[in-house]
Amino acid sequence: KSPIYILAIESSCDDTSAAILCNDKVITNVVASQSIHQKYGGVVPELASRAHQQNIVPVVDIAIKDAGITKDQISGIAFTQGPGLMGSLLVGGNFAKSLAFALNVPLIAVNHMHAHILAHFIDEPGYDKPKFPFLALTISGGHTQIVKVNDFFNLEILGETTDDAVGEAFDKSAKLLGLPYPGGPLIDKNAKFGNPKAFTFTKPKVDGLNFSFSGLKTQIMYFIQKNVAENPNFIEENMNDICASIQFTIVSILMDKLKMAVKETGINQIAIGGGVSANSGIRQALLDAQTKYKWKTFIPKFEYTTDNAAMIGIVGYQYYLNNKFAKKTVTNQARLEF
Ligand code: KG4
Ligand code: ZN
Repeated sequence: KSPIYILAIESSCDDTSAAILCNDKVITNVVASQSIHQKYGGVVPELASRAHQQNIVPVVDIAIKDAGITKDQISGIAFTQGPGLMGSLLVGGNFAKSLAFALNVPLIAVNHMHAHILAHFIDEPGYDKPKFPFLALTISGGHTQIVKVNDFFNLEILGETTDDAVGEAFDKSAKLLGLPYPGGPLIDKNAKFGNPKAFTFTKPKVDGLNFSFSGLKTQIMYFIQKNVAENPNFIEENMNDICASIQFTIVSILMDKLKMAVKETGINQIAIGGGVSANSGIRQALLDAQTKYKWKTFIPKFEYTTDNAAMIGIVGYQYYLNNKFAKKTVTNQARLEF
């Protein structure tokens, strides 16, 4: 059987990415990140869209050239349909549509959150693939969900955030500490040198498998205001301990809900996905859970945790095998369910 080459394009937020997959193996995965947003303390949609327009041609070009294939070998083109920022999505979506039309190859529309989950099915030496059914914890700057994955195309959301996403909880806490955007990775870095029990924050009470993070943000804000009023150098003197305590609280909120989900479903295979799965605290907690609770946990290769096109490509490959193609009239969707 001849190999299937999928060109995948991701542009849902502030990373422009293109990948070439040969069947379920990643040949190239090029990511152009946008540093422009740092000075604004968050992603500015209009600037993100413009940067995607500048990056899309060179990024796709490099992905194809470095893969050592020609564009005539491409079997199908997968792109992120949503969810995400409309102005950003449209750049990748329209590019993918035009190229699929020009090359006369099938077009495949992919849900970004679906891709964060199926990233585990990329064939990668040293990484096991979960077996169906399994539970996925998708944690990113825009989402926090526990999903029951029955097969490649049958996914059920068991719980999700009722307000902020967990990535926002990290980023907004970081902002309160004066750290630059995106602050999640910096909290993680500082937390390594701090005491996670130095300060205590209460965990929100939310029914079932849903999450809430906005209360925690407010709690941290009042905690910082009160302490800075007493000691103007409070943050500087306690940065590592504050970060470690915030991270400890967030990880423990996530683990509590996972334990509940395992109990309710009887499924003890857990896979994580999304940008926050790069967090060393959640990674360690999931590793510990293998011995502590006898779970089998799946932590993706770092490269496939934050936004990237390879994960779009693996979903595209599954769609291709099942002849699930998009019409040429398909449109991007800022909000998109499974
Ligand atoms: O999946 P992603 O790249 O983009 C979205 O789809 O949102 O996730 C980005 C989020 C940001 O909130 C960022 O702060 C967070 O992931 N993040 C982290 C870490 N690395 C990225 N949060 C905590 N610890 C990290 N190491
Ligand atoms: Zn994402």
